[in-house]
Amino acid sequence: MVKKRNFGSMKNDSQSYWNQRYKNGQTGWDIGAVSTPIKEYIDQLNSKELKILIPGAGNAHEAQYLFENGFNDVHLIDIAPLAIDNFRMRCPDFPSQNIIQGDFFEMTGQFDLILEQTFFCALSPEMREKYVLKMHDLLTADSKLVGLFFNCQFEINPPYGGDQKLYEALFQTLFKIELIEKCHNSIKPRVGKELFMIIKKETIEQQFDKSNRINKA
Ligand SMILES: C[S@@+](CC[C@H](N)C(=O)[O-])C[C@H]1O[C@@H](n2cnc3c(N)ncnc32)[C@H](O)[C@@H]1O
Repeated sequence: MVKKRNFGSMKNDSQSYWNQRYKNGQTGWDIGAVSTPIKEYIDQLNSKELKILIPGAGNAHEAQYLFENGFNDVHLIDIAPLAIDNFRMRCPDFPSQNIIQGDFFEMTGQFDLILEQTFFCALSPEMREKYVLKMHDLLTADSKLVGLFFNCQFEINPPYGGDQKLYEALFQTLFKIELIEKCHNSIKPRVGKELFMIIKKETIEQQFDKSNRINKA
């Protein structure tokens, strides 16, 4: 049977739940550094000018890695004030205005790239469609959501698991899934449990073309 941690889906519940986890040091998801698959993806990016968002960033090792490697328009958001405080202390030179303590679902602006690292799995399943819509809003035309999604289920939630079928069903109407594959460079404890995905935003015209093609087939 799946057990649920004491986790509210309302914004205030969510903030105090996650903040308490940081306060108690119950942050088993935090691997202490940028994950290998995300690092390797970042390392092959050509433009340091990309406007990049890390949602549900936690201690934000990805943001730190990007910043230390010359990316100059990196933004992060997390609902837990303590996670944000930790990051500010660890990376005092990171542009302060790009560090947001708040709810991802209330975020505004648009980005050229959004990196996913154990944020989707932190959200209750009823939030998943909202996540997809919000990602679509936050990306500029033709830009991408890239990252790791769990390919397994968990006995205690969160994290909430998933599989390829679920992700395809969620993303395919608003996005083109350019890559979905078993991650070949996961960190050791996550070997076999992750999918690496590159998900490209489609415009209304592209979605319209796609549905015409499907209808004609
Ligand atoms: C499982 S942790 C992952 C943190 C980080 N990505 C990592 O891999 O270390 C999920 C994070 O999402 C944050 N979070 C949960 N709901 C959120 C929301 N609605 N808006 C912004 N952040 C949220 C939590 O505070 C927490 O830091």
